[in-house]
Amino acid sequence: MTKDMKDIVALCKRRGFIFQASEIYGGINGFWDYGPLGTELKNNLRDAWWRDMVITPPIGPDGTPLEIVGLDSAIIQNPNVWVSSGHVGGFTDPMVDCQETKKRYREDHLHVIKASDDEWVAVHEEAEDSEIEKRFKKLNIKHAEDLERTPLTDIALSDYSKIYAPDAKEKGTLLEPKAFNLMFETYIGATQSDDNKAYLRGETAQGIFINYKNVLDSTRVRVPFGIAQIGKAFRNEVNPRNFIFRSREFEQMEMEWFCDPEDAPQWFEFWKEERQRWWKSVGLKDKDMIFREHGQDELVFYSQGTFDIEYQFPFTAPGYGELEGVAYRTNYDLTQHQEGSKTKMEYIDPMDPKNRYIPHVIEPAAGLTRGVLALLCDAYTVDENRPSGVFLDFTPAMAPKKAAILPLTAKGEHPEIATKLYLELRKHYAIDLDIKQNIGKRYARQDEIGTPYCFTIDDDTVANGTVTVRERNTMAQERIHIDKVLDYLREKIDG
Ligand code: GAP
Repeated sequence: MTKDMKDIVALCKRRGFIFQASEIYGGINGFWDYGPLGTELKNNLRDAWWRDMVITPPIGPDGTPLEIVGLDSAIIQNPNVWVSSGHVGGFTDPMVDCQETKKRYREDHLHVIKASDDEWVAVHEEAEDSEIEKRFKKLNIKHAEDLERTPLTDIALSDYSKIYAPDAKEKGTLLEPKAFNLMFETYIGATQSDDNKAYLRGETAQGIFINYKNVLDSTRVRVPFGIAQIGKAFRNEVNPRNFIFRSREFEQMEMEWFCDPEDAPQWFEFWKEERQRWWKSVGLKDKDMIFREHGQDELVFYSQGTFDIEYQFPFTAPGYGELEGVAYRTNYDLTQHQEGSKTKMEYIDPMDPKNRYIPHVIEPAAGLTRGVLALLCDAYTVDENRPSGVFLDFTPAMAPKKAAILPLTAKGEHPEIATKLYLELRKHYAIDLDIKQNIGKRYARQDEIGTPYCFTIDDDTVANGTVTVRERNTMAQERIHIDKVLDYLREKIDG
């Protein structure tokens, strides 16, 4: 059964995963608030990344554990950081404006369908055939059978006069593509002048590069080593869309791996493998991911090789959307900051002081909030055989609540026993205690929020100390003794 994005968004709101930011004021495009369960889910993914990068980093190819340390740098830095990194000059998207509708589009998000020699129709890349047919009908143009699309990026400017922009009544209203900078600007202090201008960080990575020397000088790490950071990043995306997939404020999990230039190609291979393995370990299914090396024409300015980990989101299917990029950034960033700040970024090999170099960098850069979306889409499972009609198939480690305690009735001994069990279990796991409402509705709620186990307290619990365990995916029930509940969870969750 195909998953419908509308249903996933509705469940996220209904159950408190994700809300539109400023909703009571009509919202604000490209910004999202994480509700009680969304925050737990995001924290679980964040903590898993931190644990697997910083607390217990992988074992390297030679059998020794890798050295990776953490960092939490400021969101606003000296604006020269972003000048040196190339973001002020080059962090742009090519945009086309429509002079009739005043709408603005990313050039690479529009496709053109050529109906005849001089009647071409521009559509959004994700527009479905039925929408396109409606558009042609509205324009009163007959279209070719196959609706073959050509990316707008492949169309010469001299042919723009033939194109109907999306929603435009007239032809030829699209203007020449222009570069649009994605950095969010702000001002520091009381005066709003160019001298006080600063930027909200467009990636967490630069905070790492500018602290590379500090980390080397203050810790015992030696090349090769990594610095990891999780935090907010901001991009003034022109078309934020697809729920939280492309937002203006989002979170990244980035690690910069500093290594000897000679070893960089091997480390690139190592991190490619490692990061694919990791996304599977948090529950994403192999069949829904692809791993793709960028072509030379796709590489961003700092990269000598990039490898994408992509997930088949419902809105990209049958295509894929980027979840993480593993980039070989060479020594581009450290060299830029060396020039811009006049601070030496050279590394001197402690075993051989003649061996000096600016380390090369391999960067696994993942989206935390985009990862949350992938987990939600992956977990969403339609099942007409249960009252909720749907359940979220999270791994126990990612599930916002690991178990729910449900007393059958809201009065007397059931809630008393339930509360006692809850107080014991919550010392170990995130547990939900849900006392009121009929049991079917409470099971349905736990299914919809992806709780793997429900424990029900009933008259038999009072009589002989057993509780019912209901397993989310199979809905199978069995009875176990209340004293064994913690062991049961330990075995199921921690293996
Ligand atoms: N430091 C490298 C870097 O920032 P990127 O590919 O631009 O590379 C890394 O971003 C990851 O951050 C992406 O793979 C994606 O998961 C996430 N990301 C980027 N832009 C985003 C946006 N507007 N909204 C949500 N996530 C985004």
